[in-house]
Amino acid sequence: MSKLRIAIQKSGRLNEDSLAILKECGISIDNGKDQLKANASNFPLEVFYLRNGDIPQYLKDGVVDIAIIGENVLIEKGQDIAIAERLGFSKCKVSLAIPKNQKYTGLSYFNDKRIATSYPNTIQNYLDQKGIKSQLHIINGSVEIAPNIGLADGICDIVSSGSTLFKNNLKEVEVLLTSEAVLAVSAKISAENQQLLNKLQFRIQSVLKGRN
Ligand code: PRP
Ligand code: MG
Repeated sequence: MSKLRIAIQKSGRLNEDSLAILKECGISIDNGKDQLKANASNFPLEVFYLRNGDIPQYLKDGVVDIAIIGENVLIEKGQDIAIAERLGFSKCKVSLAIPKNQKYTGLSYFNDKRIATSYPNTIQNYLDQKGIKSQLHIINGSVEIAPNIGLADGICDIVSSGSTLFKNNLKEVEVLLTSEAVLAVSAKISAENQQLLNKLQFRIQSVLKGRN
């Protein structure tokens, strides 16, 4: 019998909430924490624990059928991937921030400035739309340190509680987008697995209703 293949974040903020919603759907996953792949015992579901940034490509290739992922990651790397359900957790923003002691004069502030980011496509599209020319420095993590070490004049990264900005003496000056966790679907899902997805999605919708 066919199994629905779902990708969830291996570690990080989405991991726990993703496992929690599956559990609330009545799905138990046999979990050795270090395993990269696990099976559900009471639903035809295979769980793949993957790095956030890799998940859009797995969906495009049809290596997994569905994923629980931040909408911000889809916007950055998988604009053509369909969203089946908005999940209402892991809310965050993708924002521009600059050192607290700098005077912000509007978006033109960033003309000829260096911006450190893990979201190069998102920020570049935004700047292009607004006719601003900046220089991007792409880094994969700890972006907020960049202005303090002289690598950049500003940053574009995820803001959730705002505490990382605060601790690094930065202030949010523009919000590019708001995001939440979503259930994304591969265009290559088989008809058989689409049936399984319909079942799972029905359960997810009940859980979400119960949460509101
Ligand atoms: C994420 C993100 C921000 C921070 C935002 O980083 O890149 O830095 O969380 O959350 P906050 O507004 O609640 O502080 P994370 O800690 O996941 O690590 P990383 O940047 O090294 O990936
Ligand atoms: Mg960070």
